[in-house]
Amino acid sequence: MITTNLDIETIRKDFPILKRKVNGYPLVYLDNAATSQTPKQVIDTIVDYYSRFNANIHRGVHSLSQEATDAYENARKKIQNHINAVEPHEIIFTSGTTDSINLVASGFTSFLKKGDEVLVSAMEHHSNIVPWQMLCERTGAILKVIPMNPEGELLIDEYAKLLSNNTKLVVCNHVSNALGSINPIEKIISLAHEVDAAVLIDGAQAAPHIKIDVQKLNVDFYTVSAHKICGPTGVGILYGKEEWLKKLPPYQGGGEMIAEVTFEKTTYADLPHKFEAGTPNICGGIAFGAAIDYMNSLGYEAIASYEKELLEYATEELKSIKGLKIYGTSQHKTSVISFNVEGIHPYDIGTILDKLGIAVRTGHHCAQPIMDYYNIPGTIRASFSFYNTKDEVDILVEGVKKAKQMLS
Ligand code: ALA
Repeated sequence: MITTNLDIETIRKDFPILKRKVNGYPLVYLDNAATSQTPKQVIDTIVDYYSRFNANIHRGVHSLSQEATDAYENARKKIQNHINAVEPHEIIFTSGTTDSINLVASGFTSFLKKGDEVLVSAMEHHSNIVPWQMLCERTGAILKVIPMNPEGELLIDEYAKLLSNNTKLVVCNHVSNALGSINPIEKIISLAHEVDAAVLIDGAQAAPHIKIDVQKLNVDFYTVSAHKICGPTGVGILYGKEEWLKKLPPYQGGGEMIAEVTFEKTTYADLPHKFEAGTPNICGGIAFGAAIDYMNSLGYEAIASYEKELLEYATEELKSIKGLKIYGTSQHKTSVISFNVEGIHPYDIGTILDKLGIAVRTGHHCAQPIMDYYNIPGTIRASFSFYNTKDEVDILVEGVKKAKQMLS
């Protein structure tokens, strides 16, 4: 029995997609770490925008443009309040977490020199590895890795030893997409600041489960993608402390990001526009605001406590399958279970689960170094959201048992 203050059956009615069938079976959507589903409140916002006030922002004197600008800037303020940033202009709209990270990595090119060090954790998504490797190639800086243990926890003592006056930047996810581990980012940030290194936290996988307070964390940069928290794809944010965003050079050149342009010289706009060249994803930004309203209407405490119960139940049930091994067994986890069944390729199990209407992700989850650490090609990853149910866990467990039987 799972107890919760949330009315899950009513919540499920907000998500039209959950009514559909896949391969003749009711959809059991357990790929929430890849992308969350979209409630009708957010879908309605998108329809309303294109039906009533689609226009370019910050440009026109006409009413539609004013309305679109107000709605977009209002969404920025909602996000500011949601993550407790000091200023709305510390929220930069981007196309998502990958874009946000690349923005910072590009900007740091002029700050790093040969021999400087960038520390990256062993459990990063490729989007929080490759941009830093490219930065190191451009500047001669050195990339060093904060190691992890088999439970999927970062070794904080080892991290402390890696820090030195050469460390200019520390980058780490708040939550691992492949394992679900919640990293001790408060400690990671405070230790980095002792050597004056800046810290970027990839919050893509934390934002659906944990209420973020960037002031309390004292983090320099934090990234979020809307589509992981019930918003649309193609939009996200970079939070940056004002002092850092002022120092960073612009990322892309174009309209909107300038103060004045002549052929001799261009001066740049103030924050946040300095980093927002071109027509942004206006509808996406507004819908991102609606998604945040939706998440807050449920409440993060209620979401986290329900998902914890789902995680515990699913972990126990899956563990009862002989030959099944779970990767990532930290005490501090979000509702993600990565696993394999002995002797069977994860892709084969994923394919059979799909035939039963169960959506999971299989493969390396864009985190190949983690798979190399465990010496496996990949895992099956079931990632649960607040709209999943205990019955769906049972369907998953029966599906894995069936797949095992068919493939053994
Ligand atoms: N980063 C997303 C995932 O983990 C796509 O599946």
